[in-house]
Amino acid sequence: MWAVQYHRCGGPEVLRVEDEPAPRLREGQVLVRTLASAVSRIDVMYRRGRLPHGLFPKQTGFDAVGQVVDSRTEAIVPGTWVAVVLGLEPLRSRGTTVELLAVEPSRCGLFPHGYTPRVEDCALVLGGLTALRALRDGVRIRPGERMLVVGAGGPVGLAAIQMARACGAGVDAVAGRAALHSCLTLGAAEAWDHRGTEMSELRASQRYDALVVAAGKPSEWLPAVRRGGRAAITDGGAWPGSIPTALRTGVRSVPVAAGHGSEELTWLARRIARGDLVPVVGRRYGPDGVARAHAELGAGGTCGARIIDHRQTRIL
Ligand SMILES: NC(=O)c1ccc[n+]([C@@H]2O[C@H](COP(=O)([O-])OP(=O)(O)OC[C@H]3O[C@@H](n4cnc5c(N)ncnc54)[C@H](OP(=O)(O)O)[C@@H]3O)[C@@H](O)[C@H]2O)c1
Repeated sequence: MWAVQYHRCGGPEVLRVEDEPAPRLREGQVLVRTLASAVSRIDVMYRRGRLPHGLFPKQTGFDAVGQVVDSRTEAIVPGTWVAVVLGLEPLRSRGTTVELLAVEPSRCGLFPHGYTPRVEDCALVLGGLTALRALRDGVRIRPGERMLVVGAGGPVGLAAIQMARACGAGVDAVAGRAALHSCLTLGAAEAWDHRGTEMSELRASQRYDALVVAAGKPSEWLPAVRRGGRAAITDGGAWPGSIPTALRTGVRSVPVAAGHGSEELTWLARRIARGDLVPVVGRRYGPDGVARAHAELGAGGTCGARIIDHRQTRIL
């Protein structure tokens, strides 16, 4: 099978499409033929060697959409379409940007019978799971509340806007210029360019009940929330620095990690299938474009996810 892997940590150029033996299915696992995966910052952190990692070669990719082709568990039968998110495994070496993936059912959400996922659905897997956790566990959003999403143009922010609207909250967005239109189309009442002149007034407004910070400095945005309001920070590394401001402003602020969970992934898969959540793809690549996707991540000017379309593989 093909797999995108690297033999040492470093820049995007270490990523290669290579030929690998198919994974051996262990008791309790399913074998997934993948359709697509997304590129996210966590992949970049692993590739750079910023997270604990094990033996080389290492594979890349944290999430995927695919179809189960073999099963050694009663939990999922072959033919089922699944959304997969791997955990932050210590010494992790497997990734999702591979042709075949052996994975535990606890890391799979089930698409409803009769729905065939599209490549773009992968834009809502890891980003959607993070947004779900930010809204449900982080800010515990309620109908009628007002929420601000900062960094709304990425996969997390665009999913957060849709989920907040679906539960009856009002949402405003701060994003890059390229994403403002999508933020409004997906349900934001107002969307501002994060480079705009009105940012300092908005930051001090104390206008919101809830805040999701997916980009920018959390401490700068906490004063946009009323005293007693809540904030969820999706960049765990940025959270500790915001604690003094959270205490001063009286905002309950928590870090949010995507993690993995089959029930939450199944919840997401159902909503994707029903069209309740709309995937936004900023750019598509084939597996031989993963290095380019890594290089372009964080370059700005994007809206939505960077997706790897696994059907675009040249035969090795
Ligand atoms: N993607 C995932 O699945 C995932 C999962 C778990 C955690 N996370 C974390 O969640 C955060 C967001 O990730 P993401 O992948 O959704 O987003 P992303 O692709 O990193 O995009 C962030 C968006 O925010 C905008 N932005 C940049 N600087 C900003 C600022 N100072 N204020 C407001 N907006 C700004 C960018 O616009 P420009 O075009 O102008 O740069 C871009 O559209 C990251 O910290 C990531 O590590 C992501």
